[in-house]
Amino acid sequence: MRNISMGERGRKVHGIMICVPYQGHLNPFVSLALKLASKGFAITFVHLEFLYRKLCDAHHANKTDVDLFSGARELGLDIRFTTMADCFPLEFDRDANFPEYWDTMVRDFPALADEFVGNIVSSEPDMLHFLVADTVYNWPAAVAHKYNLVNVSLWTQPALVYCLAYHWDLLEQNGHFPCKDDVPEEIKYVPGVESINTKDLMHYLKESQFASVANRLTRLIFEQAKMADFVLQNTVEELEPQTLAALHKYLPNYAIGPLNFSKNLPTNTVTTSLWSESDCTDWLGSKPPASVLYVSFGSFVHTNKQVLEELAYGLVLSGVNFIWVIRQGILGDGDTNALPSDSFQDAIQERGLILGWCDQIKVLSNPAVGGFLTHGGWNSTLESMWSGVPMICYPIGFDQPCNRKLVVDDWEIGVNLCEDYGSVDREQVAHKIKSFMNGGVSDKLKENASRLRQLVHNAVEIDGSSEINFDRFVKDLEAKIHAQN
Ligand code: UDX
Repeated sequence: MRNISMGERGRKVHGIMICVPYQGHLNPFVSLALKLASKGFAITFVHLEFLYRKLCDAHHANKTDVDLFSGARELGLDIRFTTMADCFPLEFDRDANFPEYWDTMVRDFPALADEFVGNIVSSEPDMLHFLVADTVYNWPAAVAHKYNLVNVSLWTQPALVYCLAYHWDLLEQNGHFPCKDDVPEEIKYVPGVESINTKDLMHYLKESQFASVANRLTRLIFEQAKMADFVLQNTVEELEPQTLAALHKYLPNYAIGPLNFSKNLPTNTVTTSLWSESDCTDWLGSKPPASVLYVSFGSFVHTNKQVLEELAYGLVLSGVNFIWVIRQGILGDGDTNALPSDSFQDAIQERGLILGWCDQIKVLSNPAVGGFLTHGGWNSTLESMWSGVPMICYPIGFDQPCNRKLVVDDWEIGVNLCEDYGSVDREQVAHKIKSFMNGGVSDKLKENASRLRQLVHNAVEIDGSSEINFDRFVKDLEAKIHAQN
């Protein structure tokens, strides 16, 4: 560990970190907290109260006084932990009521965040504070400005998505925000994005999503994002060099990913998994190398029964071994019967394992796993790359169509489940999975997966690009804090 980071006149430098309450954001945020603390910063990590309760329910027998960072502190890191309210009672189902939740968060949470950050700042006058907030919030620039804090924004998706959303006004001028749902056009005018087809744009940029909260939020958050002092990107320089170089012209960007695999951090001391995990090591141990398809659609998106049924029968018809994570609430309408009738349950006995949640990184790194059928959330994408596992992509929403383009078209480490966005048919699913798992994956795809595995591993080595960028960021952050105070 480095010496404690001190400002002028010996004031300790302290980061206040607030992420949005989703697994795909929480994981990289916790890694970043540990990384900053290991450089000598004091950190206050803030969970929304309901998320903290969810973690306690899953891991600590419903206790409500667990200090999630006590293990990290015992190792000498200066990380405090606290919680704050959002705008709803604890029992409100935020996932099932996503639009209502975010409409209210956009309107009412900025005042809560302002008061909360203000209280921390005024209660610790001997420290020099900075803010690390999720780019997805619409309040950080205003709050940072009010309390004279350096404003660090963490973006947890690829730089490509950041770049497209950053230029939403350019997309709007060219008639692509919103963009027509079924009119494929090539976009070549966004700086840093050589070419992207409108079919691969983020789902919430589409005309059919114009009224969605994600669409409205994009403008609001990127008005704020443009005022950040520093943007941390959970990607790797060598994966998206042109996009990152173009973004550097607008604001200081640092590619420091994949954060979930940063070296020498005590990540195992901090509880992050929002559901309790089933262990499938024994089951995997009974399967031949590279014979199992791992299937998961992340922590957040919803799908419908018809899609799950086609996938279920497609998996059975394919005849391959599979682990399928079907998390509670994936249907989004309160229906808990996600899978078809008992006849399906009988059919999977031999080859399939259905779980509610698992340690995904552990599963992907098991030699029995030879493919990942994924919605293409950015964490899942990075985790698959980390293990060199080729992907079958089935994007469902948000940034996932863009991520699919990177995986399938640009990096060639995956294939599409189906050619038409959203439609699935059991016969096609079975055919695709069977050929993918039984040697249909081209040698080139396997070679690419192994090459990119090496590339992301190299990035987090001590002389790797992400480590070098992180050190550069720490220097620039300290200089800016000292200049501002
Ligand atoms: C959301 C968005 O949907 C996604 O598009 C965006 O890129 C990030 O935020 P999510 O859908 O949850 O995330 O997907 P993803 O980014 O892949 O994150 C899921 C996380 O949950 C991964 O870190 C994965 O390891 C973890 N996970 C998933 C588990 O730990 N266990 C599981 O069983 C499934």
